[in-house]
Amino acid sequence: MAESVNQSSGEAPDYKLIPHRGFNLISGIHFPEVVDKIQNFDIRDSDVFVITYPKSGTIWLQQILSLIEVKGDVTATYDQQNSERFPWMELLDSQKRFDSAPSPRTRVSHLAYKFMPLGLKQKKGKVIYVARNPKDVLVSYFHFHNYANMLETPKDFDSFFEKFMEGNVYGNCWFEHVNSWYSHKDEMNFLYITYEEMIKDLRSVVEKITSFLGKNLTSQQLNDVVEHSLFKNMKNNPQANYKDVPAIMLNHQLGEYLRKGTIGDWKNYFTVAQNERFDEVYQQKMKDIPLSFIWDIN
Ligand code: A3P
Repeated sequence: MAESVNQSSGEAPDYKLIPHRGFNLISGIHFPEVVDKIQNFDIRDSDVFVITYPKSGTIWLQQILSLIEVKGDVTATYDQQNSERFPWMELLDSQKRFDSAPSPRTRVSHLAYKFMPLGLKQKKGKVIYVARNPKDVLVSYFHFHNYANMLETPKDFDSFFEKFMEGNVYGNCWFEHVNSWYSHKDEMNFLYITYEEMIKDLRSVVEKITSFLGKNLTSQQLNDVVEHSLFKNMKNNPQANYKDVPAIMLNHQLGEYLRKGTIGDWKNYFTVAQNERFDEVYQQKMKDIPLSFIWDIN
C-alpha cells in the first residue's frame, strides 16, 4: 500500500477514493482498467499471493516470506526492495510485470476477493490471508491516515472511527473483506493466519507458512527467520519502514510504518460507547463466520 506509480515527478497527485465495482480505489495510484484485468492473469502453481486488509501485518508477512526464501539469511534480503520482491497486484504495470516475471512470483494485494485471478479457483497458486483483530486495525489505520499523504488526514479519531465503520476507506469494510475471502477459502490453496497468533507464537506460524509453501528449513534457519521478523529487529530495518518511499506518499516526520506492533492498542482509543457499538456490529456481521480474534495481549 505504500508504493506509488508516480514517484518521479515529485508532485503529489490528487489522491482520493474512487469507487469501482463497489470497492474504493485510490486515484493516482490505482486504475480501474488495471484492476479489472487481474481476473485474467495466468496463474502458475508456484505463484504466492499475500492478501490482507490494510494494517493487518502485510509488511510482516513480506519480511517472513523473504527470509524463508533465503533460508533465514537476512543479509541476502538487504538489497531487495519490497516493491520489486512483492509487487502490488493493483498497481499500474502489474500485468506486464506479472507475465514476464520468473517463478516463483509473489504478489500482495488489499483487493476484495471478486477481483482476484480466476485461476486461483482451479487451485493454482497459493493464497496466504492475514487477518488482524479489527479494533487494532482501525487504530493502526487511523495513524497511517495521519502519515500517508495518499490518504485523507482524519479530523480526529472519532471521525475516522465513523469512516472505518462505514467502510469509507481504502479496503472498504473490514467485515466484508474477511468474509469474502474466508468464505471462498475451500476453492483455493488457502492459508489463513492471524496477526495475533504471529505475536503470540511466531515460530509456529513461520513453520505453518514454510510447510504450506512446501519448503524445508532446518531448525536453525527457522530460528533465523523468526529472529529477523521480530518487531524490534524490523523496526531498525529501513526497508520494512518504507524509508525509500518519498514524502509525497509517506510523511516520515509524522509517523513510522512499524508503529507499536502489539495487540490491544485499541483500548487506548475507543470510548466505552464506541466499543459497545463495535461489538454489536461485529456480532451481527460475523455471525456466520467461525472466526475468533484475540483482543488483548494478556
Ligand atoms: P501498528 O500500527 O499497530 O503498529 P501493514 O503492513 O498491513 O500495513 O501492517 C502494519 C502494522 O503491522 C503496523 O501496526 C506494524 O507495526 C505492524 N507490524 C509490522 N511488522 C510487525 C512485526 N514484526 N511485529 C509486530 N507488528 C508488526
